[in-house]
Amino acid sequence: MARRIHPIAGTIGFLTILVFWISTAVSELFGSPATVAAVKQAIPWGFLWLVPALALAGATGFRMAGASTDPLIARKKRRMPIIAANGVLVLLPSAFYLAWLSSQGEFGPLFYSVQAVELACGAVNLALMSLNLRDGLRLAGRLA
Ligand code: HEM
Repeated sequence: MARRIHPIAGTIGFLTILVFWISTAVSELFGSPATVAAVKQAIPWGFLWLVPALALAGATGFRMAGASTDPLIARKKRRMPIIAANGVLVLLPSAFYLAWLSSQGEFGPLFYSVQAVELACGAVNLALMSLNLRDGLRLAGRLA
């Protein structure tokens, strides 16, 4: 069961953050303030499936890993707390704050400073998650 759920939950988490990141960048580069505000206010709703998906990916991953000393598994284990801390300490609070600022029509330097931090930390999580995806496919024998 864990073997089935794990890659689905992990891939959903990765794709969700990718969609958040791209829609944020595209709306802020080319969109009107109303479009930016719509994107910023939609993102926190995505946490309703993003947070459970990542929790499931982590829990099933650690369960499957057991006491294994495989270096690929050890690397995946080391990345997960960074992904979680980055999400809980930076990405969730900044997304809620940006949603609130945008709802007030506040698109000044504060908005763009928080936005820059959020995009940078989002990119870090995307990179770490894509490495976990790659190592997962290697572990499952699907990637050389
Ligand atoms: C967001 C983070 C993660 C993502 C996106 C992810 C993704 C994946 C993917 C796509 C697979 C391949 C499964 C298949 O093709 O059948 C996989 C396998 C695996 N993952 Fe993860 N994973 C994540 C986190 C973790 C963590 C934290 C661990 C714990 C060490 C872990 C342990 C494993 C193991 C042991 C396998 C091999 C399963 C097998 O032998 O079939 N993963 N993972």
